[in-house]
Amino acid sequence: MRLHTVPRLAEAGQSHLLQFWNDLSPEEQVDLTHDLQGMDFKEISGFFKNAMETSGSSKHEKMDARMEPVPREVLGSVTRDRESLKDWELVGLQCVSQSKVAALLLAGGQGTRLGVSYPKGMYDVGLPSHKTLFQIQAERILKLQQLAEQKHKIKCCIPWYIMTSGRTMESTKDFFSQHNYFGLDKNNIIFFQQGMLPAMDYNGKIILENKGKLSMAPDGNGGLYRALGNQGIMDDMERRGIEFIHVYCVDNILVKVADPAFVGFCVQKGADCGAKVVEKTNPTEAVGVVCKVDGRYQVVEYSEITLATAEKRSADGRLMFNAGNVANHFFSFSFLRDVVQKYEPKLQHHVAQKKIPYVDTQGQLIKPDKPNGIKMEKFVFDIFQFAKTFVVYEVLREDEFSPLKNADSQDGKDTPTTARHALMSLHHRWVLNAGGHFIDENGRRVPAIPRDGAAGSVTDDGNRNLKDGTDLPIKCEISPLVSYGGEGLEELVKGREFQPTLMIDEHGVHELVKNGV
Ligand code: UTP
Repeated sequence: MRLHTVPRLAEAGQSHLLQFWNDLSPEEQVDLTHDLQGMDFKEISGFFKNAMETSGSSKHEKMDARMEPVPREVLGSVTRDRESLKDWELVGLQCVSQSKVAALLLAGGQGTRLGVSYPKGMYDVGLPSHKTLFQIQAERILKLQQLAEQKHKIKCCIPWYIMTSGRTMESTKDFFSQHNYFGLDKNNIIFFQQGMLPAMDYNGKIILENKGKLSMAPDGNGGLYRALGNQGIMDDMERRGIEFIHVYCVDNILVKVADPAFVGFCVQKGADCGAKVVEKTNPTEAVGVVCKVDGRYQVVEYSEITLATAEKRSADGRLMFNAGNVANHFFSFSFLRDVVQKYEPKLQHHVAQKKIPYVDTQGQLIKPDKPNGIKMEKFVFDIFQFAKTFVVYEVLREDEFSPLKNADSQDGKDTPTTARHALMSLHHRWVLNAGGHFIDENGRRVPAIPRDGAAGSVTDDGNRNLKDGTDLPIKCEISPLVSYGGEGLEELVKGREFQPTLMIDEHGVHELVKNGV
């Protein structure tokens, strides 16, 4: 086997991958041979060449002049189009009831910043219920199916496609099976696996993570499109009669999975592709914005534009480029099929410079303290450019977006603490909106709007932020099995007063005097 591989490696300029061959055990030799045989070096070096050329080009300098904001006519907004919201929701709910809507979860990331060894969806941010991100999402799907069934008196299902990677597949599947698929029908949860690519140094040499193992990483969340094709997922969707797909990331604790209002808005607009956004209010917030570049939609990263452009304002005082991308998308089935069949090969990889641990020529493991190589990734939004009817749907950040990216730290951003707070303060507001009240330890009603300073500082992205590890004065968690988006709570809370720790789940209303049930 080895004889066969050697010339291929030499031809590809990757012979160094065998430099420790004689130090490896027979098992390690078998594993390495297997990994090398599965690799298309020609393709990989083509990816590397293209990615490096694009990342080195001067296109960024000219980006500002080519950008146009999202025009109002393709924009739907939960605040500015309140009167249409109910209609969109009805349209979406009807599509759900006809089993035309699928949810597609991007869960192939490595979660390096969070720093846990297991898939991010298995993370427990410390809610009173200790539910994981996977469970919260599963229960939202269950509830939405139920709402659609009740409204239309018809049995329906929202298939859940879950993209994992070589690193997350087995543990994700085991976790779902151990938890009995969180009450969902296991036949409607479809796991599939995205591709991996080797990390490379700046000369295109594949990096060895140890003497017998290549450094491999998933090929970005845009690896979705290739995986959909080569794992038969589009065929599965077609068999099930799926017409609309909601794609979202695993780390947003507030995600409205298969959001009927978003789906309904996109369907009513006849869109083939839609992006959910939140308003960017601070010019220097490091978030990509959805906009047009040379007449085509795309996401422009903060690092690609000048501060002057980031600070531009429209007549209404809002930032001109304010459509903050939250990686939450709508695709029609036919658009997705075209992407998979026609457009995917045209997508270029982006280059991410990283500190990649490697073995040096002496066989020593080195952990570099500055970037020493690249990982190549495609992004899920790279395909906006191919849409014929693209729409944008603006939602409130505090209602729908709180991603878990980093481990807890003092004043950290996007941490378990901020995610937990975001969910509990949303549920607190649901209770107030449904006519419930909270009382403090002296039996006095807690004001709906906290006094200044009482609920932490406001961060640069407009979120309230208590120091990590601390908790909100009012802890309120409502199971998705009880309410998908704040509906159906009046009968449980209207006119009632609650202790500052409140849990509402399928078994009833529980007031907790202290932490813990
Ligand atoms: P991020 O880019 O935030 O990456 O992913 P991450 O893996 O969660 O975290 P870091 O950067 O390693 O700290 C955004 C979303 O895209 C998914 C992630 O699982 C997450 O839902 N993703 C990312 C993939 O599905 N595949 C990838 O190759 C990368």
